[in-house]
Amino acid sequence: MAAYDYETHEYDVVVVGAGGAGLRATLGMAEQGLRTACVTKVFPTRSHTVAAQGGIAASLANMGPDNWQWHMYDTVKGSDWLGDTDAMEYLAREAPKAVYELEHYGVPFSRTEEGKIYQRPFGGHTTEYGEGPAVQRTCAAADRTGHAILHTLYGQSLKNNAEFYIEYFAIDLIMSDDGVCQGVMCWKLDDGTLHLFSAKMVVLATGGYGRAYFSATSAHTCTGDGGGMTARAGLPLQDMEFVQFHPTGIYGAGCLITEGARGEGGYLTNSEGERFMERYAPQYKDLAPRDYVSRCMTMEIREGRGVGSGGDHIHLNLNHLPKETLDLRLPGISESARVFAGVDLTKEPIPVLPTVHYNMGGIPTNYWGEVLAPTADEPDRVSPGLMAVGEAGCASVHGANRLGSNSLIDLVVFGRASAIRAGKVVDPDAPIPTPNQKSVDAAIDRFDNIRHAKGHTPTAELRLEMQQTMQKDAAVFRANETLAEGKAKMEEVAAKWSDIGVTDRSLVWNSDLMETFELANLIPNAVATITGAEARKESRGAHAHEDFPSRDDENWRKHSLIWFQGENKASIGYRGVHVAPLTSHNDGGIDPKKIAPKQRTF
Ligand code: FUM
Repeated sequence: MAAYDYETHEYDVVVVGAGGAGLRATLGMAEQGLRTACVTKVFPTRSHTVAAQGGIAASLANMGPDNWQWHMYDTVKGSDWLGDTDAMEYLAREAPKAVYELEHYGVPFSRTEEGKIYQRPFGGHTTEYGEGPAVQRTCAAADRTGHAILHTLYGQSLKNNAEFYIEYFAIDLIMSDDGVCQGVMCWKLDDGTLHLFSAKMVVLATGGYGRAYFSATSAHTCTGDGGGMTARAGLPLQDMEFVQFHPTGIYGAGCLITEGARGEGGYLTNSEGERFMERYAPQYKDLAPRDYVSRCMTMEIREGRGVGSGGDHIHLNLNHLPKETLDLRLPGISESARVFAGVDLTKEPIPVLPTVHYNMGGIPTNYWGEVLAPTADEPDRVSPGLMAVGEAGCASVHGANRLGSNSLIDLVVFGRASAIRAGKVVDPDAPIPTPNQKSVDAAIDRFDNIRHAKGHTPTAELRLEMQQTMQKDAAVFRANETLAEGKAKMEEVAAKWSDIGVTDRSLVWNSDLMETFELANLIPNAVATITGAEARKESRGAHAHEDFPSRDDENWRKHSLIWFQGENKASIGYRGVHVAPLTSHNDGGIDPKKIAPKQRTF
């Protein structure tokens, strides 16, 4: 066994990650008097939520008629009937409360003339159960909504005495022999020491794994660390084949141009100057959901109507909008377009391309954020001591495709839900569990093995191979042949892990070593994605399969689960979708006929 000293810290709750979900969970736990630590690899206000632009969905009805049932319907349809209905009801019903709480905590939302929270239209958000016009449901703080939320929640968490461990990298979960999570082992990046956080509840809020792909709007820190740790603990990952491409990543740079740009009146054109979305989605046009718009853009490019010298991208036009609108509502993207595309958007269109943006899949949970360890007899069995929220988790509210601005609301609704649940299941007077020494030793051994890895494959080389494979073979459109090829290539990438080589063995600010740990987390996420995609013989939401172009509810309305045995060997299973709402129609719930599966048209 490798010999390292480590310091032990004891808390009721340890939250790993300080983005929107992590901070909302931290704040909720601390407000109830639970001794709460938040461990984060980056400074909290630098978490990827800071890059969220367009807004947060909630049926406040500040700009016109709206209600939670319409929001729920849109979310169900957006998910292409793969989301869990109870979780989707919880999201839509709790959203207004969660947003007003944010307002009272101090989030500086943009305002209407009457002083209400300003809301803009976003793709897939409609009225009258998809029969009426687009709704203005997305609450915005200009185009820097994530930034505003993150700063507010961090300040509130400090005010409520949550303790922050900043620039600590979580290496592995500590699990008892009978599967209870008892804490997490961490590496302190600025002095190289190891730290064991023992807790009654661990909440994974580590974000997505966009960096498994070559081009993503996600920060370089989005490396699926929670998913990696969960997979190593023998728990499954769910619905990983569903990867969202945002229609408007800046061509080349990949940076996000918010959907709010189309919400404020922007539109897409092809090389013929045609507003082609009018052809594909006559009712909602540029405000159709993201999966659909991304496919339409890709078809335009494939059919020779892409723009630019290579005919390989699309134009987003905003130059017809009044300068005051751009200055007031979209100041951030005006700057991004100038810096990353060299474009003055008051004069020229922005070159854009569908870019990896969000992972619908993740660690399976119920709508309280409790992680599931499904078995054939007990598909909703809870794994004690462990929660997952935000993009790391899969509740599942987004199913096969997430609607824009349903991510920020997912973060705060389920971050908050995890705190409500912890308030019930965590006893502040109970003793902190004694950590399983075998699990502690295994985490330290793995740390030491990777630190001293003497193989011939550099981390950056293997990461690039993974990213190029995923970009090419798990793309907007998929097919039997490319998926089989991608799966085989990802298995080769995973096998090369045993030949990884780390050159710098120091412990202080060793970015080579940290990126190697991140790659170790990215690989199971990527393998699970391509394995789930290769197995799913239908098209649903973001999984557009050219050999199976229709949705097949009879055989495939089910969640896929991927388990790992040993180093990156995947096996697949399934669990049923929750089709029943939380509240019966007689008790004021949604009319089930409204959310019965049907063809998704726009
Ligand atoms: O387009 C955007 O502003 C992104 C929002 C989201 O992913 O929800």
